[in-house]
Amino acid sequence: MKKGYFISFEGVDGSGKSTQIMCLKEYLEKKGFEVLLTREPGGTEIGEKIRRIILDPENMEMSAMTEAMLYAASRAQHVEEVIKPAIESGKVVICDRFVDSSIAYQGFGRGLGECVEIINRYAAGECMPDVTFLLKVKPVISGDRIRNRKLDRIEQETSEFHQAVYNGYEKLENDFPDRIIAVDAARSIDEICSDIINHVSKLIGQKKGEMTDYAF
Ligand code: ADP
Ligand code: TYD
Repeated sequence: MKKGYFISFEGVDGSGKSTQIMCLKEYLEKKGFEVLLTREPGGTEIGEKIRRIILDPENMEMSAMTEAMLYAASRAQHVEEVIKPAIESGKVVICDRFVDSSIAYQGFGRGLGECVEIINRYAAGECMPDVTFLLKVKPVISGDRIRNRKLDRIEQETSEFHQAVYNGYEKLENDFPDRIIAVDAARSIDEICSDIINHVSKLIGQKKGEMTDYAF
């Protein structure tokens, strides 16, 4: 039986994932859980090298399929080297982006469609999150939040691309209602955080019998 718990965060760039992840991590650690925080693309030495290639604004000639496969390659390494062992050892894994990002960005944003799901069935296998928080905020608002950041190759994409990604996330939300929890991310940081904590405490509370080392 699975000992740990796997949580992923999704949303358009600047939706507040990093902010909310820090908030949840702090809460879970206070409760005595051992938390592993990780991200995609990246999370391993090989994955971080792949990340640099994918996000480098100089690699403008990269084809959509190359991009999809590089994200999946980073993920395959991440799952085997980091995520699976951490879950097996009873940790709560919080991952900043996972398979849904590929479906939204490469499947919908780049228009690659279904093949992205197929590639990722090989990359992630059965290792899918127990719950995914989708931070929902329209790209015009999230884009404004990161206006002053040095933007990577994907963030530099057009507003049409980011809108297609947003639409992709809405489709995923409808297709996987048992796993994906959509959170209104246009609210204040504190409101969003307490919403997420409420969900997580219920979900991990239900698993209490399985996660024997921890008390909620
Ligand atoms: P992401 O990891 O999804 O790119 P971040 O957590 O880095 O997003 O947030 C992007 C920017 O928006 C940061 O400057 C952060 O402080 C700010 N931010 C995050 N959440 C909110 C919020 N709910 N309201 C307003 N600004 C926010
Ligand atoms: P990230 O570091 O999470 O950016 P941010 O903190 O700004 O949200 O992700 C890097 C970029 O890679 C982001 O624009 C989303 C994109 N991405 C994909 O296109 N496909 C994927 O499978 C993943 C994991 C990320």
